[in-house]
Amino acid sequence: MKKRVLILSGGISKERLISLDTGLQVAKELKKNSYRIKIAEPDNNLEKNIKTFRPDVIFNALHGQFGEDGYIQTILERFKIPYTHSGVIASSIAMDKEISKKIFIKNNIRTPKFVTYSYDLNSNYLIKKINNILKFPVVVKPINEGSSVDVYICTKKNIIKTLQSIKHYKRVMIEEFIGGREIQVAIMGKKILGAIELKPKRKFYDYQAKYNSKAKTKHIIPVDLTKNKLNIVLNIAYKAHNVIGCKGVTRSDFKFYKGKFYLLEINTQPGMTKLSLVPEIAAYRGISFLKLIEWILQDASKKK
Ligand SMILES: Nc1ncnc2c1ncn2[C@@H]1O[C@H](COP(=O)(O)OP(=O)(O)O)[C@@H](O)[C@H]1O
Ligand SMILES: [Mg+2]
Repeated sequence: MKKRVLILSGGISKERLISLDTGLQVAKELKKNSYRIKIAEPDNNLEKNIKTFRPDVIFNALHGQFGEDGYIQTILERFKIPYTHSGVIASSIAMDKEISKKIFIKNNIRTPKFVTYSYDLNSNYLIKKINNILKFPVVVKPINEGSSVDVYICTKKNIIKTLQSIKHYKRVMIEEFIGGREIQVAIMGKKILGAIELKPKRKFYDYQAKYNSKAKTKHIIPVDLTKNKLNIVLNIAYKAHNVIGCKGVTRSDFKFYKGKFYLLEINTQPGMTKLSLVPEIAAYRGISFLKLIEWILQDASKKK
């Protein structure tokens, strides 16, 4: 008998719309293979939905806060039903760019130098610190957000104004700016799935470059790297997946500059629409969108 799959999508993060899209596309694909599907929000009806639908497995199609950061995973643990992607701890570590970068550094994985800034600190002191440790331009970003939401490249001239405009975060990360190419790697359990290069037409791989087809980011696969360099980046992603303790599918985002790879972050709930990057890498390896989703479901079932 085909499995009953509850797809969790939507949520309250800034990536809500992307998650809804993922949920619909995953549902459509699984229905082709006669799975029993229910799409639900991670809201107050969750318990009722789980009790009435009785899923064999929960497909977590959420992104961002409360969906990708260990919160929903903690709730799902209570129901003792397998759920997809990483567990509580890996999800919360990966979502926190400060903690995950500290773990990368401990494990000799190169990541852009950074400082964090709390808004109660003096901004003159911050500028001094940036001049000493990072140099301008820098990249300002939230510590636990995704989809390039509120990521800004800043000069000495505009950094204070930019910081003021995202004051609600209370604390943000400021990284050295790394030029060069944008390369992302997908890991699928114990398998290194492959890499893709993104060539945004915009200043960087921002929200528009990611989701607005008119912004026309070029996707390049196979990536034009020597075999040796490709192996290096694939293996860094594999190592990052394992040192954080991830499960299922992950996508690691890199910059490649002057022959060196810099790991920006690892995503435990990478985009999973048909046009997302992990499905594109999978397709290149001969794994259809449906097969990829089915693997994710089977992998979730294995966890318990
Ligand atoms: N230190 C950096 N140097 C250069 N570009 C960066 C840096 N950090 C982020 N970016 C740009 O911003 C994008 C989003 O940053 P990332 O750290 O992956 O956050 P998100 O979780 O929002 O995807 C990257 O894909 C890259 O284009
Ligand atoms: Mg990213």
